Amino acid sequence: MGDIAEETGGDGLDRELADLLEVERFPPPEEFREHALLKDAEVYERAAADPQAWWVEQAERLHWFSPWEQVLDDSNPPFYKWFTGGTLNVSYNCLDRHVEDGRGERVAFHWRGEDGEERDITYAELLADVQRFANALKDQGVGKGDVVGIYLPMIPEVVIAMLACARIGAPHNVVFGGFSAEAVRERMEFSEAKALITVDGAARKGQTAPVKQRVDEVMGDLDTLERIVVVRSKGLDCPMRQGRDVFYDEIVAAADPDCPAEPLDAEHPLYILYTSGSTAKPKGILHTTGGYLTGVAATHRYVFDLKPESDVYWCAADVGWVTGHSYIVYGPLCNGATSVMWEGAPDYPEKDIWWEIVERYGVTIFYCAPTAIRACIKWGAKWPEKHDLSSLRLLGSVGEPINPKAWLWYHKVIGGERCPIVDTWWQTETGAIMITPLPGITETKPGSATRPFPGVFAEVRDESTGEPISEGQGLLVLTRPWPSMLRTLYKEEERFVETYFKRFGPETYLVGDAARVDADGYIWVIGRIDDVVNVSGHRLSTAEVESAIVAHVDVAEAAVIGQHDEDTGQAIVAFVTLQGDLAGDEQTVEGIRETVATRIGKFARPRRIIWADDLPKTRSGKIMRRLLRDIAEGRTLGDVTTLRDPAVMGQLEGKVKEMQAEES
Ligand code: WTA
Repeated sequence: MGDIAEETGGDGLDRELADLLEVERFPPPEEFREHALLKDAEVYERAAADPQAWWVEQAERLHWFSPWEQVLDDSNPPFYKWFTGGTLNVSYNCLDRHVEDGRGERVAFHWRGEDGEERDITYAELLADVQRFANALKDQGVGKGDVVGIYLPMIPEVVIAMLACARIGAPHNVVFGGFSAEAVRERMEFSEAKALITVDGAARKGQTAPVKQRVDEVMGDLDTLERIVVVRSKGLDCPMRQGRDVFYDEIVAAADPDCPAEPLDAEHPLYILYTSGSTAKPKGILHTTGGYLTGVAATHRYVFDLKPESDVYWCAADVGWVTGHSYIVYGPLCNGATSVMWEGAPDYPEKDIWWEIVERYGVTIFYCAPTAIRACIKWGAKWPEKHDLSSLRLLGSVGEPINPKAWLWYHKVIGGERCPIVDTWWQTETGAIMITPLPGITETKPGSATRPFPGVFAEVRDESTGEPISEGQGLLVLTRPWPSMLRTLYKEEERFVETYFKRFGPETYLVGDAARVDADGYIWVIGRIDDVVNVSGHRLSTAEVESAIVAHVDVAEAAVIGQHDEDTGQAIVAFVTLQGDLAGDEQTVEGIRETVATRIGKFARPRRIIWADDLPKTRSGKIMRRLLRDIAEGRTLGDVTTLRDPAVMGQLEGKVKEMQAEES
């Protein structure tokens, strides 16, 4: 076990967890349970006894153009296929069938702009917009199988664009708006995107970022990209290149209004979403159609206990992350939910904007990340207390472990002690929620994601023996295929097998997280075991940040670690060696931060930079990040005898102490 404890920050976390296991338990409130969609624990047993039958039951809630021949094709693990031979269309499931069943006037999104502008978009309107844009894409030469990049802020067009792609079978590749234009370019290049949909400008706390202009600065020589479609959102003048760039409103106006949904194979690619792995190159997670939609719709319905006629649901994430794909767009729309979509930040124009929105639209289900909750704690209860939050009946958490303090604050201050909290564990790779309470059934313990969703099989394995652990800490694995699982890494099949299925063989998915299982079988996810850090719920690879830092002219070498941080979960700390005799000053720090912002995005900028004459390396030259983490966290150093130059550690320790003294 030694390694995991070291990798995940060791003793401190262990102690914290030990404390956690003592704390209170929260059974579902009686009032909630009474009306819950699922209230009988028998569902767990039923799904465990026959998982395929359980998933079939979920898949049957979708509209299929033609039925599947086989539920699960497991003849070639880890390349699993679900509902093979069946055809369906995701946009049909999200739009047409609601309209055909007389729900066209239901609001799909209460959209709220940063400056207070409001737009209610019904299912019928969304369907009309999606059809037109789908035709416009076709007019622009985009067809089935062509990859379409989407780099848009939280405006309705981002949903329209995703669904239009799904309608014609063009896999989308959405890039989070917080990524830099260079990161977009890289993702367009890796995926050989044919078109990119972007925007003139994006609202950023009262300012307008010139998005298209920045895209233009880097995209110039990418010849696979034939079209850039520009949404005119903020009325900014922007450069347009003849023959390549078109305005969204113009091609939509010229397009035919009818675009029937294309029947697509259950395994047709729905989207690629790049996420961080252990190396500097992001991984293109590939999701397909039938299994993915089955997984997100079922989890969205049961985990959030969704009653689409009466609930107002709000997932306060960004569509650019998987949480947005599955729980802003596909799950909620497939279930006919009414959602809120907020363009801006949680603290602009004021720190009560989230709660103002909850009150304004009568939000009943609210889903956000622990980092946001911790920010709210810091701002103080006075902000939510200004508003009537009594409409809320269920709260969710996602993206990182939620510390008990944040859990309890969420429960008391936001949930008024009447709302169950669902702490949902999952990943870009899993497509849908995997470990979570069922709010009408599962007793919760603050800090634990509790048990696998019905039909999902998770285990904690001993690090050294690989054997399942019934109580204690180890590696989290998923032991059976599930419908919404990634199918591969786009154009990197070998890396897919190597990353997830080498350790325990092709039938056992290695999650990449350490977890503890307690005496009740509850799972407590601790954090990553690889070089992935989680800053404010944003997944980043240390190698990615290092490679951005060394792009700065003055830098010779860099090692990046994630340091425990009260606000953001983890914060990025960079140990940097400069070229020759250069000495680092404030200006160099700013320069490095700027380079990272340009290469990846502002959210990846290091919190601290520590100048190092040398880095701790093994004799073979491998940087020992574990020792850097020990220094940064103020722990006693582990074994340093394997270092080429053990004296390096003393120097670095001194520097870190100096810096910490300055900061306090
Ligand atoms: C972490 C986000 C603890 C975990 C949906 C995982 C969590 C990574 C939780 C995936 C949770 C996500 N409790 N840790 N409830 N949810 N994580 O791909 O380390 O951006 O492996 O997907 O976030 O991040 P990703």
